Amino acid sequence: KAKMSGDTATLHLDGIPPEVLSKVEKYLQLFQLSPEMLQEVSARLRKDLLRGLGKHSHHKAPVKMLPTFVRATPDGTEKGDFLALDLGGTNFRVLHVRVEEEAQKVLKMDSQICAIPQEMMLGTGEQLFDHIATCLGDFLESQNLKGKTLPLGFTFSFPCEQLEIDKSILIRWTKGFNCSGVEGKDVVQLLKEAIHRRGDYDIGSVAMVNDTVGTMMSCGYRDQSCEIGMIIGTGTNACYMEEMKNVKRIEGEDGRMCINTEWGGFGDDGSLDDILTEFDVEVDKTSINPGVHIFEKMISGMYLGEIVRLVLVKMTKDKLLFKGQISETLGTPGQFETKFISEIEEPDSGLENAKKILTELGLDWDPVDACVVRLVCDTISSRSARLCAAALATLVNRIRNNRKLDHLKTTVGVDGTVYRKHPTFSSKLQKAVRLLAPQCDITFLVSEDGSGKGAAMVTAVAQRLAHQSRL
Ligand code: GLC
Repeated sequence: KAKMSGDTATLHLDGIPPEVLSKVEKYLQLFQLSPEMLQEVSARLRKDLLRGLGKHSHHKAPVKMLPTFVRATPDGTEKGDFLALDLGGTNFRVLHVRVEEEAQKVLKMDSQICAIPQEMMLGTGEQLFDHIATCLGDFLESQNLKGKTLPLGFTFSFPCEQLEIDKSILIRWTKGFNCSGVEGKDVVQLLKEAIHRRGDYDIGSVAMVNDTVGTMMSCGYRDQSCEIGMIIGTGTNACYMEEMKNVKRIEGEDGRMCINTEWGGFGDDGSLDDILTEFDVEVDKTSINPGVHIFEKMISGMYLGEIVRLVLVKMTKDKLLFKGQISETLGTPGQFETKFISEIEEPDSGLENAKKILTELGLDWDPVDACVVRLVCDTISSRSARLCAAALATLVNRIRNNRKLDHLKTTVGVDGTVYRKHPTFSSKLQKAVRLLAPQCDITFLVSEDGSGKGAAMVTAVAQRLAHQSRL
């Protein structure tokens, strides 16, 4: 296999004649970010973290740096039964989770997936929350838990201004959601109102949790040095433990608090314009929230397939692929799924998968086409992994500087379909972070259901702390 100059990613160049390759590379050049450029991206994010943390600058900051009111990680004395809701990832889920003190275990007792139809993701907030309350009600019924009034961890994976652990105002929808009447409102209130409208069951205290926080907490149970949570799935984001004295918006100087960075919003003020390709601009323009979450749109599963599709369409129009013939499916937004990228990049079966997928997309391909498509997928997923690495490097370097350490050893809890399912994403990401943060030694832990068990854990810790403060 050949390598691209200046880029450490191994690309699939086999099977592409040199004259085709040189043309193809012109389309892909702008996706290839040099180590120097990644360092520059990391430096820009470093400045944006400071803007987000500042008392007076945070209002306008593209990277929101939201306090989560999570100050402590599990200490092992937590216990009890909890409910968890998980909204904002691939599926909407309801869970019953048991935290056991003696065994230091978080057990998922049962769970249920509820589909959220697309109309509902774009409908009214009331409909959405009624639906959530119905799913929860059905689940409680099936588990015989209706009379129990259990505490509930609500993993709500959108940017929220959190005022307390159970008061959380939605700043704006991201990813595929855009329900009316929710932005600017307290999500806990909306959930409780929907439950009261039904009137057939109730819930106990609520803890609001971003999925990154749940991910960090679920790993924190296994590894005390886990102080970063990262998601690369439908969207992308990370949280980390920041020194309280740097969180200027919250009173108090002592200890640490987990900050939900909302790094997906990086670039929303134009700071990444110089690395956006025409395809990124198009993906943003045709999304349901143009101008918002620019960084996320270059990285996460909701958008990667669409970037690939746009590149393929352009190459086909320029007669480089499929004998110049675009099929109706390839011409339709959203039809090139992100999971195809993972399948096409499988080390052994990738080319065969590519051929199958191209056939299903109604394309008249030849063997060179399949290789070119594989190269396009590789280029775009590699960029995603390397951009994530740049952002993660900013966080670990920040933690290291905060603690005035020459060398930091830390653990990152990770989750998300792109990270989990793509064959080479995690290794590319790790390699690039090592390059960008040489003084940090990072262990990556794939979380075990952070949005479910992790949310229950946050709720359990919150309960323990509330109980202690009452004593
Ligand atoms: C989006 C959301 C963020 C979430 C991330 C991953 O970026 O705004 O809150 O953590 O997706 O699901």
